[in-house]
Amino acid sequence: MKNRKWKKFDTSGFTTSVSFDRRLAVYDITGSIAHCKMLVKCKIIPKSEGEKILKGLREIKEEIIKGKFKFLSQDEDIHMAIERRLIDKIGEAGGRLHTARSRNDQISLDMRMYLRDEIGRVSELIKNLQDSIVKLCERNTEVIMPGFTHLQHAQPVLFSHHLMAYFFMLKRDRERFEDCLKRANVLPLGAGALAGTSFSIDREFTARQLGFSSVSENSVDTVSDRDFVIEFLSTGAILMMHLSRLAEELVIWSSPEFSFIQMDEDFCTGSSIMPQKKNPDVAELVRGKTGRIYGNLQSILTVMKGLPLSYNRDMQEDKERLFDTVDTLKNVLEVLSPLILSLKLNRERMLSAAKQGYLNATDAADYLVRKGVPFRKAHKLIRGIVLYSMNRGKRLEELSLSELRAFSPLFSKDFFSVIDIKSCVELRQSPGGTAPEEVKKQIKNQKSKIKNQKSKIKET
Ligand code: ARG
Repeated sequence: MKNRKWKKFDTSGFTTSVSFDRRLAVYDITGSIAHCKMLVKCKIIPKSEGEKILKGLREIKEEIIKGKFKFLSQDEDIHMAIERRLIDKIGEAGGRLHTARSRNDQISLDMRMYLRDEIGRVSELIKNLQDSIVKLCERNTEVIMPGFTHLQHAQPVLFSHHLMAYFFMLKRDRERFEDCLKRANVLPLGAGALAGTSFSIDREFTARQLGFSSVSENSVDTVSDRDFVIEFLSTGAILMMHLSRLAEELVIWSSPEFSFIQMDEDFCTGSSIMPQKKNPDVAELVRGKTGRIYGNLQSILTVMKGLPLSYNRDMQEDKERLFDTVDTLKNVLEVLSPLILSLKLNRERMLSAAKQGYLNATDAADYLVRKGVPFRKAHKLIRGIVLYSMNRGKRLEELSLSELRAFSPLFSKDFFSVIDIKSCVELRQSPGGTAPEEVKKQIKNQKSKIKNQKSKIKET
């Protein structure tokens, strides 16, 4: 009898992960099947035993898929639960499966396989959102709106130009996910607990079966490493930052003060007290969920920062944060695609907003530059004219030629066509600029690019 100074405490409820890592069950079995085949091939276990194991694993997979698998309270994690069931089913032979591996390389394997699939799905959903953006842009290519810097009226732009900016952010996000996939797609199995194994295993064989493009090179690093999780979380955080900015603009634009857009009722809710309200809750929640996505990244960076090599149980904490990011990203992307398609633009309102606030002042300065005035001097002159107009409550185009000539004799009638809002947009033909021809080019190029991209989803 132990001479305890404390009340016996059962820690299994504290240490268990099976309530959440069961999500990895199918990956765990797929990995075990490949491992078992490798053990047979390398003559580490007899073929007859290997066959029993494979049959047992396949049946367990069925049980899991059909929701018939019974998890027990004593199951510490998904690996132990499946092994326990295998031994239940086929007896001692089941105990041979864990030869030449450890749960430390096994969990890394499961997570990598899971993430590979999810990266494919997230990437596909980003592509759908890009598709919605392109469609909305094509429907509204020539709609003019005020372009902002500092949330102050800056220069007129096409709405499609502004929205395509999000397309390009998403394009980079997809590239980042694909890059993350490269490092996730490395086989960890064979690292054992940390030092490798004394059995003559064939890691290349296992890698080929599971579709990994390479085999990890240092077993200590392999079981210590969660970079692939952190890369996914940080790529997800950047993606959410983009989506949150988009959501924020949708909220602002749909406010009565802006009234640039209307979101469909499907994506709004009423107020329980104010009958007139139509609140942009979906966009707000997209913005709000960014907090948990950043938190998940922060959480795992913190979990990992002080860990001595190699595996430490702290690392079990990675799963819920990773799953939450995966689920949240997918939910957000799924709802944003139809929301974008549902947007109705108040074109008149956007145009009239673009006519307020001297958005054509740069064009007015450029006009003088074309007549030989150095830009800095032209800027000062137009600033004076803007102040003069403000005091009189006039727009630049409402000034008379003689008022303008009092500032500079270089003004003539053609000034008015140059500062017309539409021509301010049309004249910005520099590559990537807001002129309709330029924006159409962007849309066309990108549309054909995403059309030709093959789906990266590879289901395990
Ligand atoms: N449940 C563990 C995790 O998620 C699996 C590996 C456990 N290894 C161990 N030696 N306890 O990280």
